[in-house]
Amino acid sequence: MPNPVYRPRRLRESPLIRKMVRESTLRTDDFMYPLFAVHGRGVREPIASMPGQFRLSIDELLKECKDAASMGIPAVLLFGIPRDKDPRGSEAYADDGIVQQAVRAVKETIPDLLVVTDVCLCEYTSHGHCGVVEEGRVKNDPTLELIGRTALSHAEAGADIVAPSDMMDGRVGAIRDTLDESGYQETPIMAYSAKYASAFYGPFREAAGSVPQFGDRRSYQMDPANGTEAMREIALDVDEGADIVMVKPALPYLDIISRAKAEFGLPLAAYSVSGEYAMIRAAGQLGWLDEERVMVEALTGIRRAGADIIITYFAKDIARLIEQGRA
Ligand code: PBG
Repeated sequence: MPNPVYRPRRLRESPLIRKMVRESTLRTDDFMYPLFAVHGRGVREPIASMPGQFRLSIDELLKECKDAASMGIPAVLLFGIPRDKDPRGSEAYADDGIVQQAVRAVKETIPDLLVVTDVCLCEYTSHGHCGVVEEGRVKNDPTLELIGRTALSHAEAGADIVAPSDMMDGRVGAIRDTLDESGYQETPIMAYSAKYASAFYGPFREAAGSVPQFGDRRSYQMDPANGTEAMREIALDVDEGADIVMVKPALPYLDIISRAKAEFGLPLAAYSVSGEYAMIRAAGQLGWLDEERVMVEALTGIRRAGADIIITYFAKDIARLIEQGRA
């Protein structure tokens, strides 16, 4: 029997060699940490289906942000839970809305932490949809003005990046115009470009109380079966002025991440959503999976697929492991 000429195992024998030839690595610099802001003081309310995640009043949110920043996490992604919901989601674009207050507080206290804001109406509307509802339908164009106002109010509060997640047609262009007209030409837009109508958002909707009160989001979020359409969605957002494009969720859509990375030259974000986090945490708590290793493997897979930025509720856990040289 002749020896095989190439023996892949030669480079797998020692941890040092494995590390040297490793193709994808996780860096703390690439993580964005999502947080939920609520009204009140001293509130740190656990989210049942997302163990380790909380609804935080601004004082508590600041502690969490300081913690994240001290670990080297460069950015947080802020979501708000309003005091009251109404059909037009007015707190989404109120000057003293929860997110606007949170942005001001974080920028004042921890100026070096990037504050990214989710721009959407669904947490703020009484019907739970991401747009204006008329005659039982989610209307596209009447929503654009409200989305533009929301993004502008975030920029005025000091947001470093605004991130529209509503999936209305034309929102990136509408936001770009609104920001530019008001002197915010320099504020980047991270567009949730290929956002699927996913059941993996379940725990988030519990956290934000944003379950649609009728129907579902399939008339605006994408059909999970479609890949080529995701490329069209991303192309539209690039044309309308997106600076960073996103694929969401991440794990069931690694092929989309990989195609997007190959087809577009823009920084690409992947959002590993609440359901992905919940699955790993739950199986870990039950002792069915080695939570730490599964987390590292899942995030590495998202990176290997081509994500430049990874949005994950595991941000602090992974930053700790990287710090310890374990990821
Ligand atoms: C708001 C929004 C959602 C998520 C991010 N922004 C929920 C949704 O579209 O229903 C989901 C995030 C997650 O599940 O972690 N439109």
